Amino acid sequence: MGARTGMAAKRLLSAVLLVAALACDGTHAKFSRHSFPKDFIFGTGSAAYQYEGAYKEGGKGLSIWDKFTHIPGKILNNDNGDVALDMYHRYKGDVQLLKDMNMDSFRFSIAWSRILPNGSLSGGINKEGVAFYNNLINEVIAKGLRPFVTIFHWDTPLALEEKYGGFLSENIIKDYVDFAEVCFMEFGDRVMDWTTFNEPWTYAERGYSAGAFAPGRCSPHVSTSCFPGDSAREPYVVTHHILLAHAQAVALYRARYQKAQRGQIGVTVVSHWFVPATNSSADRTAVRRSLDFMLGWFLDPIVHGAYPGTMAGYLGARLPRFTPEQARLVRGSYDFIGVNYYTTYFTTAVPPANKLRQSYDTDARANTSGFRNGVPIGKPEFVSVSFNYSAGLRELLLYTSRRYGNPVLYVTENGIAEGNNATLPLAEALKDGHRIEFHAKHLQFVNHAIRDGANVKGYFMWTFMDCFEWGDGYLDRFGLIFIDRLNGLKRYRKESSYWIENFLKR
Ligand SMILES: *[C@@H]1O[C@H](CO)[C@@H](O)[C@H](O)[C@H]1NC(C)=O
Ligand SMILES: *[C@@H]1O[C@H](CO)[C@@H](O)[C@H](O)[C@H]1NC(C)=O
Ligand SMILES: *[C@@H]1O[C@H](CO)[C@@H](O)[C@H](O)[C@H]1NC(C)=O
Ligand SMILES: *[C@@H]1O[C@H](CO)[C@@H](O)[C@H](O)[C@H]1NC(C)=O
Ligand SMILES: *[C@@H]1O[C@H](CO)[C@@H](O)[C@H](O)[C@H]1NC(C)=O
Repeated sequence: MGARTGMAAKRLLSAVLLVAALACDGTHAKFSRHSFPKDFIFGTGSAAYQYEGAYKEGGKGLSIWDKFTHIPGKILNNDNGDVALDMYHRYKGDVQLLKDMNMDSFRFSIAWSRILPNGSLSGGINKEGVAFYNNLINEVIAKGLRPFVTIFHWDTPLALEEKYGGFLSENIIKDYVDFAEVCFMEFGDRVMDWTTFNEPWTYAERGYSAGAFAPGRCSPHVSTSCFPGDSAREPYVVTHHILLAHAQAVALYRARYQKAQRGQIGVTVVSHWFVPATNSSADRTAVRRSLDFMLGWFLDPIVHGAYPGTMAGYLGARLPRFTPEQARLVRGSYDFIGVNYYTTYFTTAVPPANKLRQSYDTDARANTSGFRNGVPIGKPEFVSVSFNYSAGLRELLLYTSRRYGNPVLYVTENGIAEGNNATLPLAEALKDGHRIEFHAKHLQFVNHAIRDGANVKGYFMWTFMDCFEWGDGYLDRFGLIFIDRLNGLKRYRKESSYWIENFLKR
């Protein structure tokens, strides 16, 4: 059945490709990797918790996600990443799939508690964990791909959360930098692309303002099902510690490793693009505030050495300050910036929240929505917070270039999901023409951004295989590869995986 399905998929694919080619104007008829600069890389991404499984195997310690997902009601269907895609055991076949798709690079993260089971160097380095990543890195390189490694993708060691509150404490900075140094020492001879943190915005907002992701803290007025926190302060404290940990890790890499290892180091941020709901100056200013609170919160410090003036002005004492010495350390702490993009929203200025009901989510004094007068900004996607608005990616890249001194940029994530549907026949589930359209269109806008001067060097599709999508569990299928969760996690190529194989042909 697999082979027949594969043939049918290939035939169907040709039809889809033809339609896609005809749908574009003549100049894009041959749109492919050759339309991009020579050193531009294409890849697809993953994260340890979403992929590896083996959550307490091979000497691994627990992370806050191992705990969070085991609390009933936190995750849709009470799904968890205990087994995930079992990439811990199946990485060889998986890397072969990446090669089959002609990918240049594979983005993955290193589980901190697989390397340091209790989070600290004093608890010992787990040799089996180091061996796993050595094997994975070697396999990726042996297949001709470049490992694009995230040091932290949200899975704080549980021991550190319990000992001192994880990223709420400045103690995390030393433990994080120790962990990063183990990574540079063990893997840096082969890893040339390091990202310190993935989407610190999501970690701070989801984890400490909305409370929907681990560690699941928020103010009682935001939700009574969170662990008691402070949505008006904790996100800012956590981000402050992330920025300092990031900057110290970069300083360490530059001082001790970069010259010999000749790699580059940066950070991956996520931002929506925002469109004013009306032409009023109030709504246009609300757009700038929204960008400052989501993107500038991270990029202003690492590029300019200070938080955006808007944030400092609105937040007063709730926003931590950098000492002059810290500001010098943070400023310039990147060789490149990774940008994750999924959607664009209409933005409306709103008055400040009542003092007793403040939270990070209301602090920007902007209401964002995919709809204006009931009309969506782009086609609503399966994941209901996302709208297909590919021009937003170009705008975001150009804005980031202009505002932050034309840094080297990588689109480290962009993608679209379909819903898991257990009754849908497999052959149907592999037909993801919407994903082909989605990436083809977004890639054209990346191309426009490059022509307009943005220094974009790569594009990573989210995601390689259908995986554990945090609060949504296994409902959202974002992958190029379909995972049959009812039959031993068998991997099947979706049509989009053949499309990208063809797009990337040399
Ligand atoms: C980790 O283990 C070491 C050695 O047993 C101990 O000194 C340290 O306090 C532990 N750290 C945590 C966060 O539990
Ligand atoms: C804003 O102004 C531009 C140019 O005048 C116009 O094209 C656009 O439709 C206006 N947008 C809204 C939301 O009124
Ligand atoms: C924000 O937008 C939503 C959706 O359009 C709307 O229901 C809500 O009333 C708005 N809130 C404010 C404060 O304007
Ligand atoms: C799942 O697939 C079946 C079979 O094609 C279809 O009838 C049903 O509407 C789908 N369910 C959802 C929620 O899309
Ligand atoms: C997304 O929008 C673009 C136009 O910006 C369109 O060409 C493409 O077909 C749309 N894709 C999907 C999956 O709706």
